[in-house]
Amino acid sequence: MPTVRPSERASYDGLMTTRPRTDYDQLCTSLDALLEGEDDRIASLATAAALVYDELDDVNWAGFYLQRGDELVVGPYQGRPACIRIGAGRGVCGTAAARRETVLVEDVHAFPGHIACDARSRSEVVVPVVVGDELVGVFDIDSPSLARFDEADARGLERLVEQLVAHL
Ligand code: SME
Repeated sequence: MPTVRPSERASYDGLMTTRPRTDYDQLCTSLDALLEGEDDRIASLATAAALVYDELDDVNWAGFYLQRGDELVVGPYQGRPACIRIGAGRGVCGTAAARRETVLVEDVHAFPGHIACDARSRSEVVVPVVVGDELVGVFDIDSPSLARFDEADARGLERLVEQLVAHL
């Protein structure tokens, strides 16, 4: 057992709390293998939500809101029960859907109009799911830690959604 003196503890603890980078190549390969030959949309969304919830560290909610008319309605997800309907352009999800762009939020309390479905959420990333010209919905991933997601996560999750879209 190595001895850690108090003066060294900060960096030692720092090392211990450094989060390993998510291997999105591996995640894309896993999703592709799981969805091979599958054409049921709900099954594919549910599998993607379960994979991300299970594989990403420090995540308290992962799932889809699906475009229904001019609002978003919750789809397959993992985590605590969440709000069922989100009005057009509302919250982080509605913003990502309206812009058809990924929205990365380091601190949900600093995002005007953020919808607090799970009070534990502190940061989130929302990626639009577009098939052809159709906005199917958004993929929302929440964390109880501030700034849990960075640009590398956003780009990695976009690649994962591209992989998913090939099966929708
Ligand atoms: N926080 C989201 C709402 C969905 S839940 O976090 C699962 C938003 O502001 O759109």
